[in-house]
Amino acid sequence: VPITPARKIWMDGDLVPWDEAKIHVLSHVVQYGTGVFEGIRCYQTPRGPAVFRLTDHLRRLFRSAVIYRTTIPYSLDELHTAIKDTIRANGLSECYIRPLAYQGYGEMGVNLFPTPAKVTIAAWPWGSYLGKDSVENGVRVKVSSWRRHDPNIVPPAAKATGQYINSALAKAEALEAGYEEAVMLSPLGHIADGSGENLFVIRDGELLTPPESAGILLGITRDTLIRIARDHGYKVQQRNLVRSDLYTADEAFLCGTAAEVVPVRDVDGRVLGTNGRGPITKELQEAFFAAVRGESEQYAAWNELVG
Ligand SMILES: Cc1ncc(COP(=O)(O)O)c(C=O)c1O
Repeated sequence: VPITPARKIWMDGDLVPWDEAKIHVLSHVVQYGTGVFEGIRCYQTPRGPAVFRLTDHLRRLFRSAVIYRTTIPYSLDELHTAIKDTIRANGLSECYIRPLAYQGYGEMGVNLFPTPAKVTIAAWPWGSYLGKDSVENGVRVKVSSWRRHDPNIVPPAAKATGQYINSALAKAEALEAGYEEAVMLSPLGHIADGSGENLFVIRDGELLTPPESAGILLGITRDTLIRIARDHGYKVQQRNLVRSDLYTADEAFLCGTAAEVVPVRDVDGRVLGTNGRGPITKELQEAFFAAVRGESEQYAAWNELVG
């Protein structure tokens, strides 16, 4: 998905012109993938631009940093303010926001302690990650031959730059095979998540989604949809799923900040019950978009106004 440049990128307190936001090629993060990051969206709401669950995203960033021994040289409140400053400095209302805390330039070698951690925040306009038609028409998904990380090898609970080479392998395989997205299994063979999304299966009117122990990223969109589905009266279970649960689903959808909520049309060539967007998926999508766009009083606390 091409990047639409904006004006400025926040780099350790300075708003730097977009084309000048550069780091040294020998930075630890470039050589070893030692950066923790977030993907966040800001939406236009009736009360002005609002970042969806910004505080929850920043909490996850700090948890990722704890896992990777990254000392972020700012507080959560400082980054909260810096993100809003970056959105305002770019004159954006609807945008994707990418904060990154990374090990910078210092020493060579895998020991990350001697290199200082730095922070950048970029924001730019970005459409739906899986394509503009994906939200209505759904996507074709392949169960990948690549497995998700074992939590004792690379912890899937953290959102770190280097971890995404695993997702990149799965995504490339799926695209080459004519699918739009990959779903990865855990080392034990349970469904984990997509290359950049969590997954829900709907069967007999009930929602099923893999638990944290399956090696998923604990998605904020996943959490949002669990809450919305329960508020709509659906039962939601977080339990281990295997690939046949996906093949025999009445409906399924992928969800994440970048992709938003995208129906799964078929899995490994098996068309799901509804051949497109199922009725429960559509109902939850509508409630999700109302929530992020600040149209639901019930979820207004999730709309953190840029001001
Ligand atoms: C592997 C993976 N799973 C799930 C998600 C969804 O997380 P969220 O809803 O917080 O964006 C993402 C996106 O960041 C991801 O990369």
